[in-house]
Amino acid sequence: MQEPIGAAIVGCGAIFPLHAGAVQQLDGVKLKMVVDSDPSKAEQAAAEYACEAASDYLTLLERDDIQVVHLCTPHHLHAEMATQLLRAGKHVLTEKPLAHHLKAAEDLLAEARSSEAQLGVVFQNRYNAASRKIREFLDTKMLGKLICLKGIVTWHRDEAYYTDSPWRGRWSTEGGGVLINQAIHTLDLLQWFGGEVVSIQGSVTADALGDVIEVEDTAHASIRFADGVRGLFYTTNAYLANTPVELELVFEGGTLHQRGDCLYLTRDGQESLVCEPPASLDETGRITGKSYWGSSHRLLIADFYDHIRTGTRFAIGGEEGLKTLRLIAELYRSSRTRDSR
Ligand SMILES: NC(=O)c1ccc[n+]([C@@H]2O[C@H](COP(=O)([O-])OP(=O)(O)OC[C@H]3O[C@@H](n4cnc5c(N)ncnc54)[C@H](O)[C@@H]3O)[C@@H](O)[C@H]2O)c1
Repeated sequence: MQEPIGAAIVGCGAIFPLHAGAVQQLDGVKLKMVVDSDPSKAEQAAAEYACEAASDYLTLLERDDIQVVHLCTPHHLHAEMATQLLRAGKHVLTEKPLAHHLKAAEDLLAEARSSEAQLGVVFQNRYNAASRKIREFLDTKMLGKLICLKGIVTWHRDEAYYTDSPWRGRWSTEGGGVLINQAIHTLDLLQWFGGEVVSIQGSVTADALGDVIEVEDTAHASIRFADGVRGLFYTTNAYLANTPVELELVFEGGTLHQRGDCLYLTRDGQESLVCEPPASLDETGRITGKSYWGSSHRLLIADFYDHIRTGTRFAIGGEEGLKTLRLIAELYRSSRTRDSR
C-alpha cells in the first residue's frame, strides 16, 4: 500500500478547523503535525486531531514524512514561511493573501518558480457552484460578450475583531485592511471573470474604525479590463451586518446576478435561478444543508492534493495570488494620487 501524504498545518486560529477538517476527510492524506507559536493552541489542536504539536514551524523542515504544509498564519508570515518550506521541498498551501505586500509576493513567486514543490493560494470562492457556473457562461460565450461587472462586499468587523488579534489592522502585519483580508476574494473573482486588468482607479478610507486601525475599512474602485470590459467594486467592513457578497455580470444577451451562492439569470425581462449551492458537509461529515458564501475550502484543498498526487500544476498558484495584490497596490496608489491632487 502507498504511504499516505503527510500534512502539517501552521497556525491554529480561526481558519484552522476548516483546513484540519478537510485534511482529515481526505483519503491517502494524514495530518501529522500542527504548529502554533502559542504552545497551548498547538497542543489543544493536536489533541483534537490526534497528531503531534510544535511551536516552531522550522521543525517541519527536518521532517521527511511531511510533504504538504498549510499556512494559516497572519499575513506577514506567509512569504517567509512559504520560502523556507519550498526550499526544503515541501508543497505549500497558503491562506490568502500570498503575502502582506507586493515585493514579498514577487520574491515568493520567484522562489516558487525555481522549486519542484507546488505553491497554492486559498481562493476557495473560485470553487463555489455559482462561480463555476459563471465561468461556464464566460467560456461558452452563451450570453455573448461580457460588457461590465460589479462586486459588492458589505460586512461588519467591530473593534474587538482587531484588538483580539493584534496583527490585524496594521500595515506591518496585515498589510492592508478590508481589501487584503475580506474583499480580496471578490477582487480575485472580478479579475478571474473580467480578464486582464488594464487599470484601476479608486479610493480607500477608514470610515468607522479610523481610531483603532491603521488600514482602510472601506474602498471603492472602477476597473478597466481588456476588450473594453468595465468593472465596479465597493467594499466596507463598516456595515452593521455581514450580508452576502453580490456579483453582477452584464452580457450582451443577459445578466447574471449572484447573491451569496445563488445565481440568477435575467434574460428578456425574466429572471430564473440557474444555480443553487450544493448541500455541504460539516467537519464531522454530516450533511448540514446549503453552504454559504465562502464555504468551498474542502473542494480547493482536495483539488490541491489531487495535483500533488498527479504532479500537475495547481491552477491557483503564485501567479494568481500576485494578481490580486497588484490590484490592491494599484488601488492604494490611485487613492494616494487622488488625495494629493
Ligand atoms: N480563506 C478565507 O476565507 C479565510 C478566512 C479567515 C482567515 N483567512 C486567512 O487565514 C489566515 C489566518 O487567519 P485567522 O483568522 O485564522 O487568524 P488568527 O489570528 O485567528 O490565527 C492565527 C494563528 O497563527 C498563530 N501564529 C502567529 N504567529 C505564528 C508563528 N510564527 N508560528 C506559528 N503560528 C503562529 C497564532 O498564534 C494564531 O493561532 C490569514 O491569512 C487570513 O487572511 C482566510
